Amino acid sequence: TLSPNPKMAAGSIAPEEMEELREAFSKVDVDSNGHISTDELNDLFKAANLPLPGYRVREIVEELSSTMDLNKDGKITFDEFVNVVHGLKSSDVAKTFRKAINKKEGIYSVGGTSEQSSAGTQHSYSEEEKVAFVNWINKALEKDPDCQHVLPMDPTTNDLFTAMGDGIVLCKMINLSVADTIDERTINKKKLTPFTIQENLNLALNSASAIGCHVVNIGAEDLKEGRQHLVLGLLWQVIKIGLFADIEISRNEALVALLREGESLEDLMKLSPEELLLRWANYQLEQAGCPKINNFSSDIKDSKAYYNILNQVAPKGDEEGIPPIAIDMFGLREKDELHRADCMLVQADRLGCRQFVTATDVVRGNPKLNLAFVANLFNKYPALKKPENQDIDWSSIEGETREERTFRNWMNSLGVNPRVNHLYLDLSDALVIFQLYEKIKVPVDWDKVNKPPYTKLGSNMKKLENCNYAVELGKKEAKFSLVGIAGQDLNEGNRTLTLALLWQLMRRYTLNILEELGDGQKVNDDTIVTWVNNTLSEAGKPTISGFKDGSISSSLPVLDLIDSIQHGSIRYDLVKTEDLTDEEKLNNAKYAISMARKIGTRVYALPEDLVEVKPKMVMTVFACLMARGMKRV
Ligand SMILES: *[C@@H]1O[C@H](CO)[C@@H](O)[C@H](O)[C@H]1NC(C)=O
Ligand SMILES: *[C@@H]1O[C@H](CO)[C@@H](O)[C@H](O)[C@H]1NC(C)=O
Ligand SMILES: *[C@@H]1O[C@H](CO)[C@@H](O)[C@H](O)[C@H]1NC(C)=O
Ligand SMILES: *[C@@H]1O[C@H](CO)[C@@H](O)[C@H](O)[C@H]1NC(C)=O
Repeated sequence: TLSPNPKMAAGSIAPEEMEELREAFSKVDVDSNGHISTDELNDLFKAANLPLPGYRVREIVEELSSTMDLNKDGKITFDEFVNVVHGLKSSDVAKTFRKAINKKEGIYSVGGTSEQSSAGTQHSYSEEEKVAFVNWINKALEKDPDCQHVLPMDPTTNDLFTAMGDGIVLCKMINLSVADTIDERTINKKKLTPFTIQENLNLALNSASAIGCHVVNIGAEDLKEGRQHLVLGLLWQVIKIGLFADIEISRNEALVALLREGESLEDLMKLSPEELLLRWANYQLEQAGCPKINNFSSDIKDSKAYYNILNQVAPKGDEEGIPPIAIDMFGLREKDELHRADCMLVQADRLGCRQFVTATDVVRGNPKLNLAFVANLFNKYPALKKPENQDIDWSSIEGETREERTFRNWMNSLGVNPRVNHLYLDLSDALVIFQLYEKIKVPVDWDKVNKPPYTKLGSNMKKLENCNYAVELGKKEAKFSLVGIAGQDLNEGNRTLTLALLWQLMRRYTLNILEELGDGQKVNDDTIVTWVNNTLSEAGKPTISGFKDGSISSSLPVLDLIDSIQHGSIRYDLVKTEDLTDEEKLNNAKYAISMARKIGTRVYALPEDLVEVKPKMVMTVFACLMARGMKRV
């Protein structure tokens, strides 16, 4: 994570205290995204019911977040948290803060021995989130014949946590968020046993990671046992990825309408989906001649902004085949905020967008659920027109390639901070690269790293210095081949050269896993091919000449290898073996990738990578399978 000096902070803190802090952090960071926001901090204080006046709470939160959030991005990472809580040990603020964490109310504290984690610690989760997710899932999977054994879930009970236990609902939700992630044929649906349930959960977790969820601290056990805060954290990530999928300029060029005076297209592309949504809401408010909002928490509590946005985006009947829906604004006059929110939600319902929030969530300004509410509204009624502006260079809007997406998902699943939304723009200060170096055990001297906020003047200089250091580390410490790559290429987002570095990072990461399993023995492409050949030969299957072998296009070598590692796992009746059309190849590949995940490998490659025999991604698939095979013995 992004820390001024994680080593030092960790070094001076006793392990028990570190554990306690980690615990506290995870309690606040319920979506396990590796950071807590000012909002979450705020909620924590409010929920804690401290005998403090409101202004004092605000002061404390301000003080804490300004001291903690060292890089001023509105997000407090664990390391920032440790540094400051530790530094403030004896102060009033720290005491209050600790008390708040220990007394968290309204956010449920889980009691009872069976639900406590092995360390005997307590976790908490938000009841509102549970209700929201249950309703969302009930609706999304309403007609799915494979989920009828658990749906509809009752939002007032703990149904959700039991229902998630066999992995089916989670697999379905992942596939809904990113279509075609999971091959339906690999989900175990009938006569489930502990073993086949475990397989479903493996499939779900490894697929979640492949779509960019940060699942490092969650295991199949946690899902099976329905550990509430972990289940909700994972679900939120999955749901959010689905909600945000189209809030991206290359997928929806009409978003360019949100460009402001004096802004470049690149400025707009740099915005995160959260920022784009806020932009969008304000655009609609501006069109309606209403005041702007700064957030989806305090600023939407009175429902006024929501009323105006609904009114603005509701179909007017000017589009063929879409009947007009007139929003009834009468409820705006309602004096009581809760009643007003209720009336507003009745109108949202008429648009089919009453999702994620209750009137109480609106009035309390729950930031997470309100964000989801707005994202869903945007997806259904974007109400934006692609501008016909001559000055816009439409050709510079390029969709993400498969390779770029795979790298991005890989790094996000490792929990880099901030989350990477746009591969090149978000790496321009190399901060994420440094975190990846740490993941491959290349030590980073954080004193040499410039951290945000960068002053306006010379900000790119600071970023460039970081990039130079990143290239230097790659050459000197990681011993990468970086011929012709300079810091400037990363900073400017030269695609080819950035990808070259990223590939070496991902490759090293993959090989490290194998070397750890093999007690440090060096591993290279040949080692992997030899292992694959031996394993295939032993099982009486054809071998491969390398990662470019044309036979890989049919996925048969991968399927055979999976079947050799876990005997009888491949249903060959589902596999086409001869005279394959492109579609049949893709079908085999989908089956192979999902099966690899199901037997427990974290494969990031996509089916197309096998069909097209992309040697790099093919190598990662075989390397992951080798790791799985080595664990077998
Ligand atoms: C996954 O998504 C694809 C495409 O949307 C669909 O054809 C398939 O049936 C889905 N599978 C599951 C497991 O939901
Ligand atoms: C939301 O923005 C308003 C200003 O428009 C500000 O007063 C308020 O503190 C913000 N709320 C949160 C939770 O950040
Ligand atoms: C990226 O770097 C390569 C190699 O130096 C160069 O050929 C290419 O023109 C650069 N691309 C851009 C867009 O600058
Ligand atoms: C794997 O087997 C192929 C024959 O299919 C052979 O050409 C190749 O050299 C072998 N590679 C290794 C590394 O064992």
